[in-house]
Amino acid sequence: MVILGIETSCDETGAAIISGKSKNQKVKLISNVVSSSLSIHSKTGGIIPETAAREQVKYIIPVLESALKEASGSKMANDKWKMENLAIDAIAVTVGPGLIGSLLVGVETARTLSYIWNKPIIPVNHLMGHIYANFIREISNYPRFPAIALVVSGGHTDLVLMKNHGRIKWLGGTRDDAAGEAFDKIGRLLNLPYPGGPSIEKAARKGIPKRFKFPRPLIDSPDFDFSFSGLKTAVYRETLTSPAGRQGYKDIKILSKQTIADLSTSVQEAIIDVLVVKTLRAAKKYKVKSILLGGGVAANQKLRDELKWRMENEKMETKLFVPTKSLCTDNAAMIAAAAFYNYKEVPWQKITANPELYFY
Ligand code: KG4
Ligand code: ZN
Repeated sequence: MVILGIETSCDETGAAIISGKSKNQKVKLISNVVSSSLSIHSKTGGIIPETAAREQVKYIIPVLESALKEASGSKMANDKWKMENLAIDAIAVTVGPGLIGSLLVGVETARTLSYIWNKPIIPVNHLMGHIYANFIREISNYPRFPAIALVVSGGHTDLVLMKNHGRIKWLGGTRDDAAGEAFDKIGRLLNLPYPGGPSIEKAARKGIPKRFKFPRPLIDSPDFDFSFSGLKTAVYRETLTSPAGRQGYKDIKILSKQTIADLSTSVQEAIIDVLVVKTLRAAKKYKVKSILLGGGVAANQKLRDELKWRMENEKMETKLFVPTKSLCTDNAAMIAAAAFYNYKEVPWQKITANPELYFY
């Protein structure tokens, strides 16, 4: 089965083609094209939803064409590639969660292609897509169930128990900011380029560990919830010359490069510490065979290394799966993969975007 995936939930425009044979095997990546409007958002320090959607309207057709051309092989002349030659069986599209204007670009495109090509549509939850990025890789074994999945992105931080494909139990999530959102907001406080996650990771490499002691919110609570907004406040305090609110004014310090690096190290450690401790606790409680990481924050090398190191240190038999970095951030390959393992067609008339979609 060959599936064309379309992803436009946030600021990326993605199209990809995968092929799969059996639910007990990984899927093969045939082509994967992502266009990001990041450079525009880095000027504004964050995503402006309308700008993101307008860019996606511009890029969706060229991105789709590139993905189809890439799949049809470089030998074909530019104007000779044909959709029919690719034998696409179905179209998978992200229906939520995400920004409504952005989601609509993908959903309406999928609807049109479904009608024209007479192919079914499979609606995909973006968060499930992040988990299914782990079912694409060529290098590691196929994940075994039960599994714990940690989805850490710009909008979400969730721990879920996966008993099998389509059998998901949500264990907990963030009560306020998502991990990626915390990175982005703190990056902004430190005057680092948007998005904050990769910028903080880079700055942290030169930081002195433990110069700042930041809280590890909810680390000892028995639930699987997270809270990262307090961390942002703690960093904010370090950027002020006097405690916020006192004497009715706040002065922002000029932070040295070294202080920014030190703050980055400490805040990255605090976020990772909570994520790792809670993920391992869930893995032990449910005696899982695999841990699956997913979402933009999963591209963080320190998080990947720390989780691996602690699992080895505790001699856990559970296997860790982490997608290649380009499949951690938003892409359409993961959407097509999620559709393959959770195949549920809907007629084009019935497909709708749902910005509030969640795991439950
Ligand atoms: O999954 P994603 O591409 O989009 C959403 O679904 O939200 O995740 C984007 C988030 C941003 O908050 C970004 O700062 C974060 O992932 N991110 C990282 C890294 N790369 C991206 N966070 C920490 N370290 C990174 N290397
Ligand atoms: Zn995402």
